[in-house]
Amino acid sequence: MIDPTEMRRVLGHYASGVVIVTAAGAAGPVGMTMQSFHALSLDPALVALFPAKSSTTWPQLAPAGRLCVNVLAMGQAGLAQAFARRGENRFAGLDWQPDAGGAPMLAGALAHISCRITQTYDGGDHHIVVAAVEALSADPTAEPLVFYRGTFRALAAPI
Ligand SMILES: Cc1cc2nc3c(=O)[nH]c(=O)nc-3n(C[C@H](O)[C@H](O)[C@H](O)COP(=O)(O)O)c2cc1C
Repeated sequence: MIDPTEMRRVLGHYASGVVIVTAAGAAGPVGMTMQSFHALSLDPALVALFPAKSSTTWPQLAPAGRLCVNVLAMGQAGLAQAFARRGENRFAGLDWQPDAGGAPMLAGALAHISCRITQTYDGGDHHIVVAAVEALSADPTAEPLVFYRGTFRALAAPI
């Protein structure tokens, strides 16, 4: 039996970007911060994300069917924290525009990936969600927000 705290500590050595996944919820815009987001397939264009089964936000995102994955820029760590807090009005005072599916595209994000959920599989205490990419764009001039060993970081210089 692997201790969950140890699992989190060791896997935290795998650095990643940070995204906020959004959708047009039944009662307005919804979104949550996620680290477990991946490119899955080029042809067809698919992405994968792994929301926790314990999340109270995912059941509001999933019925929309269409999501926007907002890849966060270096200056958006505060946003990442706000979208991971329960009970907060996460969109208060936020600048965003709806994509073609109505999902919020957050201003200042590094990239926006609009997608449609196609499959959901069981992944232990998480769901494995596969989504087909419908539109995407990126700002090549912005720097990414990095998550490593439980803390937000800036990307180091190229080696
Ligand atoms: C940097 C970071 C990465 C996260 N990655 C994930 C993730 O991949 N999957 C997930 O379910 N939750 C992830 N979370 C936690 C969710 O954002 C958070 O638990 C959730 O929004 C809490 O509210 P909820 O219960 O309303 O969903 C992450 C949080 C942070 C700060």
